Amino acid sequence: HETLKIRASMLDWYHRNRRDLPWRRRNSNSSKNEEDEEGRREYAYRVWVSEVMLQQTRVQTVIDYYNRWMVKWPTLHHLAQASLEEVNEMWAGLGYYRRGRFLLEGAKMIIAGGGEFPDTVSSLRKVRGIGDYTAGAIASIAFKEVVPVVDGNVIRVLARLKAISDNPKDPVTMKNFWKLAAQLVDPGQPGDFNQSLMELGATVCTPLNPTCSSCPVSVQCRALSISKQDRSVLVTNY
Ligand code: ADE
Repeated sequence: HETLKIRASMLDWYHRNRRDLPWRRRNSNSSKNEEDEEGRREYAYRVWVSEVMLQQTRVQTVIDYYNRWMVKWPTLHHLAQASLEEVNEMWAGLGYYRRGRFLLEGAKMIIAGGGEFPDTVSSLRKVRGIGDYTAGAIASIAFKEVVPVVDGNVIRVLARLKAISDNPKDPVTMKNFWKLAAQLVDPGQPGDFNQSLMELGATVCTPLNPTCSSCPVSVQCRALSISKQDRSVLVTNY
């Protein structure tokens, strides 16, 4: 079955090629065991901060901001005590300042609601500033909920893989990408699988001149099979 092959190839590629990024070190700021309940919720906080920073900013830029943030506010409880001025100061240079404010407001909301970090997409979506993308990323990476994540990189990878040419600005198209991603996500390792799609889009399946020769799913790629891989975003109808 093609889906099983894609999952296995993507996960294998990810485990061999994943970059060692600070937010991927589960216990970097905690003595708690990553597998216990409390450890997972602390890890979720770090995934949240990193995913929000990564939404409009390149990985190389995010690393320093992320590390400084975690020194100042190592847990959700620390962040909830911060002022907006401190958060904006920390955010200076990252752009889209709303993102920092949403993190602060979200942290206050979660603490006011008892302090348990939400661990499902539906509960995460209720937090200020957490949309479908961030909810899916946190739920799958930190809590292993079997849910998809769709961002610009994932759209490009899936569009090429399935030779989808629909307009991504159309909400119906987006619904279909989420559906497709939901069918593909690996039920055993949803977080790693989702990150493999994002990472493939960032490093191999790039908008221009994708490196198909080093792609783990080139055999399954419909765009490549019809020589339509070299397009900026989507491929044309076939
Ligand atoms: N871009 C945004 N989040 C990412 C992640 N978790 N892994 C790789 N690239 C990303």
